[in-house]
Amino acid sequence: MTAQQPAAGAQPDGAMDEQSAARNVRQMFNSIAPRYDLLNHLLSANIDRLWWWRAARTFRTVLVQPNAIVLDLCCGTGDMTMALLRRRPLQAQPILAADFAHEMLRRGAAKFSGRGAIAIEADALRLPLRDASVDLITTAFGFRNLANYSQGLQEFARVLRPGGQLGILDFSEPNGALGKAYQWYFRCAVPAIGKAVYGQSGPYEYLPESVRRFPAPQQFVAQIESAGFEDARWTPYTLGIAGLYSAKRRGTTPADCAQINAAGKFEPGSLA
Ligand SMILES: C[S@@+](CC[C@H](N)C(=O)[O-])C[C@H]1O[C@@H](n2cnc3c(N)ncnc32)[C@H](O)[C@@H]1O
Repeated sequence: MTAQQPAAGAQPDGAMDEQSAARNVRQMFNSIAPRYDLLNHLLSANIDRLWWWRAARTFRTVLVQPNAIVLDLCCGTGDMTMALLRRRPLQAQPILAADFAHEMLRRGAAKFSGRGAIAIEADALRLPLRDASVDLITTAFGFRNLANYSQGLQEFARVLRPGGQLGILDFSEPNGALGKAYQWYFRCAVPAIGKAVYGQSGPYEYLPESVRRFPAPQQFVAQIESAGFEDARWTPYTLGIAGLYSAKRRGTTPADCAQINAAGKFEPGSLA
């Protein structure tokens, strides 16, 4: 693969194809689950809490609607789900929190079950949900790990209703002097700390490598738009160490139709 070509999906060590990539990713997260939270907060100096909070705030107008169907994908140990839950009104529809690594999901469920979210063990590339049934999909630090990015976006476009919103929070590689310092920290210090905590550096070598391989923000914004979304943008967090991709599912909602109709401009049969 040349440097110009966007990665098709995650390629953890030893992966031969998409199936084995997904299997390796699942095994890796199951194996690091017991200390995932500890190491996460340690490595990010707790800035990750701010990032989940900011991402949830972006979607506050959807979250305050009690009937909105919200899906937090790759929910892992549930911190993004918890940030979303803090913005849900009482008696709201439960948030659907999905992940395919049982050990991660089990820890997430211990945090959010009984607080307004339901755990679903599912693959983000094959969601057990109907077409156009979801109002908001969020995924924090999970999308980069999918075995096929195009398929992931297509699956999100399938389950989101027209006008439904998408938020993908993930790391990126900043440019300039900060980029150099960050690369040292991410590629040298993070695997060393991972090894000290787990006795194995593998998962924390995969982390910087997967960030390096992920499409650059403008490239990924274009990929999101071509998968059936509009208003796609990237908002950098903390000098671009992380950032939020947000977009809206293209298409006309029933509410839009009612408005157009009221204004006398709606042509029956103009909807796909
Ligand atoms: C880095 S963790 C992020 C967890 C959590 N969202 C957070 O912000 O801490 C990535 C999660 O994505 C999950 N994941 C990766 N690929 C997946 C897939 N194809 N389907 C479902 N979950 C997936 C992993 O099991 C893991 O729990």
